[in-house]
Amino acid sequence: MADTPVYILSIESSCDDTAAAVLQNAKVLSNVVARQDVHEQYGGVVPELASRAHQQNIVPVVDVALIKAGITREQLSAVAFTQGPGLMGSLLVGSSFAKSLALALNVPLVAVNHMQAHILAHFIDEDGFDKPEFPFLAMTISGGHTQIVRVNSFFDMEVIGETTDDAVGEAYDKSAKILGLPYPGGPLVDKYAQLGNPKAYAFTKPKVPGLDFSFSGLKTQILYFVQKNVAENPDFIAQNMNDICASIQHTIINILMDKLKLAVAETGIKQVAIGGGVSANSGIRSTLKEAEKKYGWKTFIPKFEYTTDNAAMIGIVGYHKYLEHTFSDASVTSKARIQL
Ligand code: KG4
Ligand code: ZN
Repeated sequence: MADTPVYILSIESSCDDTAAAVLQNAKVLSNVVARQDVHEQYGGVVPELASRAHQQNIVPVVDVALIKAGITREQLSAVAFTQGPGLMGSLLVGSSFAKSLALALNVPLVAVNHMQAHILAHFIDEDGFDKPEFPFLAMTISGGHTQIVRVNSFFDMEVIGETTDDAVGEAYDKSAKILGLPYPGGPLVDKYAQLGNPKAYAFTKPKVPGLDFSFSGLKTQILYFVQKNVAENPDFIAQNMNDICASIQHTIINILMDKLKLAVAETGIKQVAIGGGVSANSGIRSTLKEAEKKYGWKTFIPKFEYTTDNAAMIGIVGYHKYLEHTFSDASVTSKARIQL
């Protein structure tokens, strides 16, 4: 019965988005995300509020995912969920739900690594999107991670560079906070950056050896720069928001591209993929596209809806683990930290 379709219900609840998706093999039938606006006023994710909101959202989000997919619970082949990394209280809501559902339906349970999922999202069937061939390089850029990964096969991944302090998404969010923008500030900095002059202000890039990154110094530099200018002109931010954002974005993209170029030179691998929330960034997307012509790379930029946290990416990993019969039992534990 080689052509019997596999239906995976996947659940993602690692941070502040409650998400569920249904996949038929590698194709996404539905991909539903309930964003939690409650954190906006606090300037960051409040873990306690996140797990409460997950509890409120998870049943309706899963129901909508099944309805949109036109699939009944009884048709499901397996239930996949995010095991980690993430906020423990948030992860537990998704894992408890997934365990109970798999048990009730008597189908396999599949535990998925969130960071693997950001990378393997490129294997979702989508018209107009090519899939990378192994081995390829993946740069995962999110609110919690900044890594360059050598992807040898679906489940053989090697971290060859990572941040020594803040993640790039944090650099965006913290810069935004300094500018008085609400959380998460990354998308707003990106929006204003597109209207500004990237060379208006110069920020120095950190000197970190090899393929590792550092973003905490940049954040401090931006803080001092803003404080100094606001002391001279209280309207400095409002008058120069676009140029400030464009200059920050330009610096961040340069930092990321320098390391990617080094990774390609060191490994000889010219297939380069990006993933994670910051891969939604317009500047990173266009710079990477340009690198195809400039350096002869083949680049893989995720469809917008698979950049920030979503359950479709958990589903594609679930599907490939299903094919390999890599299942978990109900004793599987959530993990706030977990290696690739
Ligand atoms: O992958 P993700 O949704 O959650 C984590 O696993 O961390 O990434 C969220 C991060 C946030 O820091 C957010 O500000 C950033 O991705 N982000 C962006 C953009 N869209 C989301 N950063 C820069 N430009 C964007 N367009
Ligand atoms: Zn993520």
